[in-house]
Amino acid sequence: MRHIKHSSMWVGLVIILPLFWEGITCQVAGYSINVPRSVRVQEGLCVTIPCNFTANYRNMFKNSFGYWMLNPPNSPSPSNPATIVATTDKFGPRGRTNFYLTGNPDTGDCSLTITDAKKEDAETYYFRFEESKTSKVKLNFIDYVKPTISVTNLTEEPIISDPGTVIAGINKTLTCTPPGNCSATSLVIQWRKSNVAGIWENSSTVTFTPSLCDHQQSITCQMTNSNGKTTQKTILLHVYKSPSDKEDTNVCTVRAVDSTIIIGIVIGNITAFILINVASYFCLKRHMEKRQLGNASPDSKTQDKESTYEELSGQKTAIYYNLKAQ
Ligand SMILES: *[C@@H]1O[C@H](CO)[C@@H](O)[C@H](O)[C@H]1NC(C)=O
Ligand SMILES: *[C@@H]1O[C@H](CO)[C@@H](O)[C@H](O)[C@H]1NC(C)=O
Ligand SMILES: *[C@@H]1O[C@H](CO)[C@@H](O)[C@H](O)[C@H]1NC(C)=O
Ligand SMILES: *[C@@H]1O[C@H](CO)[C@@H](O)[C@H](O)[C@H]1NC(C)=O
Ligand SMILES: *[C@@H]1O[C@H](CO)[C@@H](O)[C@H](O)[C@H]1NC(C)=O
Repeated sequence: MRHIKHSSMWVGLVIILPLFWEGITCQVAGYSINVPRSVRVQEGLCVTIPCNFTANYRNMFKNSFGYWMLNPPNSPSPSNPATIVATTDKFGPRGRTNFYLTGNPDTGDCSLTITDAKKEDAETYYFRFEESKTSKVKLNFIDYVKPTISVTNLTEEPIISDPGTVIAGINKTLTCTPPGNCSATSLVIQWRKSNVAGIWENSSTVTFTPSLCDHQQSITCQMTNSNGKTTQKTILLHVYKSPSDKEDTNVCTVRAVDSTIIIGIVIGNITAFILINVASYFCLKRHMEKRQLGNASPDSKTQDKESTYEELSGQKTAIYYNLKAQ
């Protein structure tokens, strides 16, 4: 028994010792880094890699310098110098145009932000810290965790701002942005509208004057990266008649009145529903005659009617305006 125990302990030590030595060879007491080992980002989008570190047991410094470096296949040497991709050193080399050391090294923050990710950015990187140019507190965190970035194809959809209430005749501005707080990017943003042929707008914002003919039309924002990959997001427009069209009534009187008016509103609802659908029908008809786009199959018409009803039943106030306007 004793013999077996001893030998398994030795085997264990023989396995563990080299790992232990390898793990600590170039790590220095008082220096540590917390950063994810792998990070994914979609081509054209942005990512922030959270990172913090200690140097000489501290994470508070003054006017220190941080650097993110491309991890070389072999150790850096005079003939194979390390490449800086991002730095807080304003006097040093600039690094890559889409890499930013967004953390403040003075507070032990080494967070790295990559905007407009490219397939070439898929590499491994390491952090370098210098308390000052003359201080001995400096280190390449090569023998620590190093983030490897992978850049995948674009599949995430753009985000269209909430249109809120869309009223005929009142200008509406919509914006379309890539997901993930990503402004500096080469993504091309374009808009389409179901009753406009071709590209509606070539910009991240669009301002338009909605008309009742836009009711139940769809608006699509598409983003395209430099590799030609496109994703898109579509919203359906619900356009209401302008409140200024109503005769001099206001919403407060409606709340206080008796049941005959409520019955009136119910009948009004049905009337407004029919009128809006009739109006949509004529808009569609006129539109098809004009453009011959042919985008109104019998199926899509049925769907339109259902969603119109859903939307209207939740919008009593707007209906009331419609009713009074008729
Ligand atoms: C450092 O990073 C780790 C892991 O990302 C996190 O748990 C920790 O709160 C961070 N510490 C500071 C001081 O930011
Ligand atoms: C990414 O896109 C390229 C073409 O741009 C294609 O060849 C490749 O198969 C795609 N990869 C994945 C994982 O879909
Ligand atoms: C978005 O990015 C900006 C800088 O580009 C930054 O100041 C801001 O804190 C970020 N917001 C979020 C929610 O990450
Ligand atoms: C948008 O740009 C495309 C080509 O990039 C062009 O064909 C189209 O006319 C432009 N449309 C508008 C509305 O500016
Ligand atoms: C409404 O939008 C249109 C189209 O962009 C613009 O020509 C017009 O000046 C705008 N009107 C107002 C009142 O902002």
